[in-house]
Formats: sequence, C-alpha cells, structure tokens
Amino acid sequence: MSFKTIDQAPARLNRSELAVPGSQPQLFEKAAKSAADVVFLDLEDAVAPDDKEKARKNVIQAIGDFDWGRKALSVRINGLDTHYMYRDVVDVLEQASGRLDLIMIPKVGTAADVYAIDMLCTQIETAKGRKKRVGFEMIVETALGMQNVHEIAAASKRNESLHFGVADYAASTKARTTSIGGANADYAVLTEPLDDGRRETHWGDMWHYAIARMVVAARANGLRPVDGPFGNFSDADAFKAAARRAAVLGCEGKWAIHPSQITLANEMMSPSEADVTRAKRIIAAMEEAAKAGKGAVSLDGRLIDYASIRQAEVLVQKAAQIAAA
Ligand code: GLV
Ligand code: MG
Repeated sequence: MSFKTIDQAPARLNRSELAVPGSQPQLFEKAAKSAADVVFLDLEDAVAPDDKEKARKNVIQAIGDFDWGRKALSVRINGLDTHYMYRDVVDVLEQASGRLDLIMIPKVGTAADVYAIDMLCTQIETAKGRKKRVGFEMIVETALGMQNVHEIAAASKRNESLHFGVADYAASTKARTTSIGGANADYAVLTEPLDDGRRETHWGDMWHYAIARMVVAARANGLRPVDGPFGNFSDADAFKAAARRAAVLGCEGKWAIHPSQITLANEMMSPSEADVTRAKRIIAAMEEAAKAGKGAVSLDGRLIDYASIRQAEVLVQKAAQIAAA
C-alpha cells in the first residue's frame, strides 16, 4: 500500500437511490416507506421551472414531516449555472429539519463548484447552529465533470459519493443515443468472417469507460461510486444487467427512477450467498496457509494469495453491513 492513507466516507448503504420529484408530494410517503437505502428529493431536472419554488417548499416540509426510517435523505439542488441554486441551499439548510443527511450537486464541473457550495453550507450551518454537517453527493454528468472527476472527488471533506448521470453525460458528450442508460445496438463490433463465413455482432457497453473512470476517482478518495438512472423501467432484465455490470466494476449502488427498480437494485448490489460463502472459504484457506508459513495456496484448483483475502474481505464486509442494516 501507499504511505498515503485514504479517509473513508461515512459507511452508509447506498445500493438503491430513489429519485422523487419535489413537485410531486403525493409520492413522498411511499418513498419514505420504501426499501430504498437512499432517497433524494429532487429540485432539479424532474421539476419544471414554474414549479421550482413550490417544490422547494414541499421538500423542506417533507424532510421534517415524514418518518424516513434509517434511510439516508438527500436533496438534489439545481445546478450552479442556474439562479435557483443559492436559494435551494439557503432555504433548505436554514429551514429543513436536522433529518437531512446529504445534498446532491448535479452537473458538477470543477472542484471550485464543490468548494463554493461547501462554503455556503458551512456558513449556514454555523449561523443556524445546525449540529449535523450535510454530506455531498456529486453527479458526474458532463464532459467537464468527467475530465475533472479526480479533483472533484477530493474537493471537500463533505464528499460522500460520486454518481454517473448517464442522461446528461450523453447529452454533454454528444453521444449518439436517446435512451437513458443501457445498451446501444450501434456500439457493437462486427467480427471478421468466422470459418463458416458467418459474422457475429458483439454488443459493447458504451458507458464502460465513464463508469470505470468515476469508480477510480471515487475509490481513490474514499467515496461511494453509484451508477445513475436506467430509463426503461418496464425492462427489469436490462436494469439488472446494467446494475450487475456496474457492481462488477466496483459501484455500490444504482438509482431507481421508479419504485419497481428499488428491490432490483438492492438485490443486484448485494453480494450473493454463493459469493459470500466462497469469500469466507478463501479467508479460511489463507489463514491455514499463513499458519503453514505459505503466502499462496490453491483452492478448488485456483491460485489464491494475500490479494485474494483483500478481495474476499470486501464481499464479507459488505454482507455484514447489509445484515446489520
Ligand atoms: C441524471 O441526472 C442524469 O442526467 O442521468
Ligand atoms: Mg442529470
């Protein structure tokens, strides 16, 4: 390991993150009772300009009025380029109850964006005597944000998680797609003719680089990487496939833009029983190996060594965190 130690963000479960438009208060109670690990009440893109002020009031009231259980509760403010953002932060932090855990910053582009909001939050919290410091969730969803993702991830001690906002990211990078997340038939490799002359089409994941880059920036700074929305909420199989891919790359969770996606995300982002059992066997086998003075042994015909213990511990710790929730 490096001599540099990485401070870890507070350990919260973040398998599913439910998006709830602040302009639709009739959805709040169901969200509060849902199985989502995190709920964010949205003041940004799910709210029309004419509804922004009302949504802000709804959200401030809902934070104190509903029983949010053990969920982490977040508010997505508007972007720094709008004239709504300062009042989102000021009104929410001045008026909302201490139940609020997080502020979600959309379209973050530079470390200075985070610095500016940190400064505002710090002043309000001090002035109002708020005891709990809000943490930050940042949506990486522009080319600028992705370019600066490492500086953004390190920009504030409040930072807790990075989120991949695939819809805005596609727009910002001018990607040729109109769906929100998922596979694209145009992002495929046509094989050279096989022996029998047939050619096959192998679909690729056009979001691979972006998610992998965000995961590195998040993990190098002790933050949770979270995959963003999947628009086609009627296609559970495709959602599960996208969530599994994100989990394999290191993401801790995925957004749910529809309540039906909550359990799917929780399931896909939890290690399976088989994975945990194997992880425990690896740890046990390595303990035996250590007693015998060996650094590497074989288990089920495969090499395992000290790196295998570290991989296995990630799974076992995650399972323990879920069991304790
Ligand atoms: C989320 O905000 C997205 O743009 O995908
Ligand atoms: Mg967005």
